[in-house]
Amino acid sequence: MIGKVALVLFGIFVSSFAYKSYENYKVYKVIPKSEVHVQILTDLQKGGNYDFWTDFLAVNNDIRILVSPDQEAEFVSYLKSFNLDAEMTIRNVQELIDAQLKPSASTKSSRLGSYSWNQYYNLAQIHSWLDELQQLYPNVVRTVVIGKSFEGRDIKGVVIDFKAGNRGERPLTGMLEGGIHAREWISPATLTWIIKEFLTSRDPDVRFMAEAFVWHIFPVINPDGYEYTFTDNRMWRKNRNPANHVSCGTNNDIGNGIDLNRNFGFLWMTIGASSNPCDNTYAGPIPSSELETQAIINYVTQLNTTTNMIYYVAFHSYSQMILVPFSHATGNQVLQADNYADMYEIAIRSADKLEAVHGTDYIVGTSAEILYAVSGSSFDWVKGVTNAPVVYLFELRDVGRYGFLLPPDQIVPNGEEIMASLVEMDINTRALGYYSYSGAGAIKSVLIVNLIALIILFFR
Ligand SMILES: *[C@@H]1O[C@H](CO)[C@@H](O)[C@H](O)[C@H]1NC(C)=O
Ligand SMILES: [Zn+2]
Repeated sequence: MIGKVALVLFGIFVSSFAYKSYENYKVYKVIPKSEVHVQILTDLQKGGNYDFWTDFLAVNNDIRILVSPDQEAEFVSYLKSFNLDAEMTIRNVQELIDAQLKPSASTKSSRLGSYSWNQYYNLAQIHSWLDELQQLYPNVVRTVVIGKSFEGRDIKGVVIDFKAGNRGERPLTGMLEGGIHAREWISPATLTWIIKEFLTSRDPDVRFMAEAFVWHIFPVINPDGYEYTFTDNRMWRKNRNPANHVSCGTNNDIGNGIDLNRNFGFLWMTIGASSNPCDNTYAGPIPSSELETQAIINYVTQLNTTTNMIYYVAFHSYSQMILVPFSHATGNQVLQADNYADMYEIAIRSADKLEAVHGTDYIVGTSAEILYAVSGSSFDWVKGVTNAPVVYLFELRDVGRYGFLLPPDQIVPNGEEIMASLVEMDINTRALGYYSYSGAGAIKSVLIVNLIALIILFFR
């Protein structure tokens, strides 16, 4: 008995020891008013002791910085000495982490199989739900593994095809990518919502979109990192490849891992990426050095050559933006995508529809204009080297109040507004002549496949 209690206590000790505590960590909001302020913050970020939730430092930008209890006094007085005001916006980061791990009691969410949208799910739960979908929708859904992560986990997604076997040559396809940055939990949650909508919605526009395309949807492209945010460090962003580790002082673990969304070989390492493994935006030693990057590249290359790929959309958080490629420059330096004007127009309309659902305001533009100049991201690579005409990166909710720690009761409203924006994207993409399709939109087919799913659920 005593042995058992000791074992249980030991277990609690070990597990709480393993999951890094953010008890009394704060998030501060700082808005630099001058280039001098920007320089001070840049130096602070380079020092590597603070986790900047905002990568891009510029005059009048809203910058959020995670500060440990030991650092707080020094942090505040240091900034004060330069007349830089720091406003505390999160009093105890651990409280928000704990809240994020509890299902929301207030959300009335639809269910599909074992899944609902009032909570965040870990990697194993997401993967087993994808398997479950394949069983429930045997004629429509098949799981696909596009490669292994550094630690050997599956990079897994689903292919959704309502007309399997009846598409002819070069079917219309779209690919949706989530979870490339581990701590952005709302991203995988959004992709599971989209999958559910494609499979069950009776809205005619959703039906058209779901059935006109073969959808390739990957909720967690960075499985090692995502798993790590559940087991070790909620604030992890990169993958977990330690090959380029260097000593990073007190925060030594940060020296592991590569920022996968800086690792793609299109204008790689030209701007907005770091060559220092201690940075959260470390681009890796060479372009596509990472297995996860290679998996996407191989899969997209195959879609590009064997299908008519219309869409590629990557989902991140946070900032509430629809980013249009390319991301590396503004003004006359910009490499403009040939159909930039169309992509911009489509995105503006999508953002309007998005706002109409719950009043959430999204900004549209290239990353360099509205967020920061970056290079080596997956969506820039896709736009740069494939034929896919409509390519975006969504920065989901919110604009900093919770940041990466978005409460679970926002998963449903976020999903609803994103789905509305994607439907609008599809309507305008079609209206502009990027594709044509007849023969989708039949409510009948969704009723039948869901009846089959119900019967399968009932009898197993
Ligand atoms: C995509 O296909 C086009 C030709 O249709 C080709 O020019 C381009 O190189 C392809 N991109 C990749 C990554 O395979
Ligand atoms: Zn991200």
